[in-house]
Amino acid sequence: MISDVVKVFKELDKKDFRILNGIELGMRTHEWVPVEDLLSFTGFSYGDLEYKLRKLRHYNFVIATHTPYDGYRIYFEGYDALALNAFVKRNVICAIGDEIGVGKESVVHEAIREPELAIGDYEPAIVKFHREGQTSFKSVKRARSHLEGKEHFSWIYAARLAAQREYEIMKKLSPKVSIPKPIDCNRHAIVMEVASGSILAKTRLGDPLHYLNEILQQVANAYGEGIIHSDLSEYNIFVSTEGVQLIDWPQYVTPAHPHAKDLLLRDISNILTHFEKKYGIQTDANAIYDDLTSGNEVRI
Ligand SMILES: Nc1ncnc2c1ncn2[C@@H]1O[C@H](COP(=O)(O)OP(=O)(O)O)[C@@H](O)[C@H]1O
Ligand SMILES: [Mg+2]
Repeated sequence: MISDVVKVFKELDKKDFRILNGIELGMRTHEWVPVEDLLSFTGFSYGDLEYKLRKLRHYNFVIATHTPYDGYRIYFEGYDALALNAFVKRNVICAIGDEIGVGKESVVHEAIREPELAIGDYEPAIVKFHREGQTSFKSVKRARSHLEGKEHFSWIYAARLAAQREYEIMKKLSPKVSIPKPIDCNRHAIVMEVASGSILAKTRLGDPLHYLNEILQQVANAYGEGIIHSDLSEYNIFVSTEGVQLIDWPQYVTPAHPHAKDLLLRDISNILTHFEKKYGIQTDANAIYDDLTSGNEVRI
């Protein structure tokens, strides 16, 4: 069910967003943003601010501490609300719907967009909210080379960086590589087209060889653009009668990366293993790697 974003956030008014903005800003320099800072940022009376903060806490948009001083932190839902508010204001989406996917490091919702030029039907889209910092700061930091050396780490920073990285690379790859078209990015959230079909892992293909070749062709196209996915598996590929689409790009690397070869080989092997286990297709990952990196046509 799609509900109007205004209804979902009907409890939030301009003043609430002002407070959320104040906490977001304060978190650049504070672990917990002092109430005094919020008073001066918003210009609200103490009573008004307290009342609104209680409501924001009730909805889990913010969390509070009382020691060593009264302070606030934004929570994922509050950060989601700020990003959604930005998309709605920019007319990128007009409604947000149910959650349609949860990944290792994201929550994905369906959404709708107004038709361009105000004619035609509403168009579906998805909003991917990154959640990088949520699970474990240490494991994320270890796994993600793009976070190295960033001392003022926080989940906001991690999630935002991952979203921006993913959005930029999607813009570069689309349409040369078959991926959902990226539409907009704000904070830790990306709006993109809905991928066609279903996830490879959950699909039984009638013509697996055709799809295997299609996937390898897209991996080759990305490599031709200087990009290695690095987290490719049957869970990050959509298949439909129109072809295949690769999703989930924030951990991409370039061929200059010290482990580029291992990462590309792992991507290829993940796909080949899936097709071998499920469809009995036997292949040689090294031979495919060689074809793919030397620009030869990859055909099985
Ligand atoms: N463009 C899209 N269209 C439809 N569903 C999507 C799209 N992008 C992501 N999803 C859904 O959300 C899930 C998580 O997205 P993904 O980009 O793989 O992030 P994660 O890093 O969390 O795995 C996917 O497995 C899929 O079910
Ligand atoms: Mg994924």
